[in-house]
Amino acid sequence: TIKIIMDTDPGIDDAAAITMAINDDNIDLKLITTVAGNVTVDKTTKNALKLVRFFNSDIPVAAGAKQPLIKPFEDAARIHGESGMPGYVFPDDLPKPMDKTAVEALRDEIMANDQITLVPTGSYTNIALLFSEYPEVKSHIERIVAMGGTLGYGNMTSAAEFNVFTDPHAARIVYNSGIPIVMVGLDITMKALLTPESLAKLPTLNETGKMLHDIIIHDGDNSDRGIAMHDVNTIFYLLHPEAITTEKMWVDVQTEGPAMGETVGDIRGAYHNGKTNTAVCVDIDADAFNKWFIEEVSHISK
Ligand code: BDR
Ligand code: CA
Repeated sequence: TIKIIMDTDPGIDDAAAITMAINDDNIDLKLITTVAGNVTVDKTTKNALKLVRFFNSDIPVAAGAKQPLIKPFEDAARIHGESGMPGYVFPDDLPKPMDKTAVEALRDEIMANDQITLVPTGSYTNIALLFSEYPEVKSHIERIVAMGGTLGYGNMTSAAEFNVFTDPHAARIVYNSGIPIVMVGLDITMKALLTPESLAKLPTLNETGKMLHDIIIHDGDNSDRGIAMHDVNTIFYLLHPEAITTEKMWVDVQTEGPAMGETVGDIRGAYHNGKTNTAVCVDIDADAFNKWFIEEVSHISK
């Protein structure tokens, strides 16, 4: 099994990613930490707890940063709805978050493991704070499989993808941390759209399919071709790397000016003399992604 920690801001596609991570037997999800992003951290924490409760799971949830390191906080409620996970009524007897902060919880869980994979699907504020406060965790992190960034156009500005744009200073710290990174960015997530056919199948599968269907249809970014399930691509990559093409290069993050939040990939390898810090996901088998998505949900007992 693949041991992971998810750092997340649910969020519609985050919710789908958490659903897969909790329920797939090949993944051992040790901890969920939350961050402000799609909505405020109070809401993203509540949403993570709703999912844990929905699946009767005992995975701990720790609440993290309320705002980015430097840049003022802007949410994405226009896409993810006021609550961040609209459209489905979850039970309201929610478990409590941990007494520790996300940074403390991350430190303790990472140090308790020899090697572990970090899966951030929100902005990287918690992880940047963690690396600044407890650099000793770095040698226990095998890799960071992060949703965020783009070599092409952004979805916030022409240059920047939302997670990186939300906290570009944190992203820069993470990209320069020395830990191998897999950049699961818009280059693939805008290709692997959940098709209208897949979406229509979901509620016929089980209660989980109904829950996902009901929240996904509220995604403000849907189109006739399908809906991007950005964060779910991280879990798909962990389980099916053969369906995704990656290219190694150096990636740095622009923190100022009109290209703030741009992930700058050294595609020629010239500027950094062939040195690389990232495997950038550049292509994906979209049919395989859709097929897998439906299979994952249909295997869930609820
Ligand atoms: C990312 O932004 C968020 O709104 C999504 O949850 C995803 O993590 C896509 O750019
Ligand atoms: Ca997210």
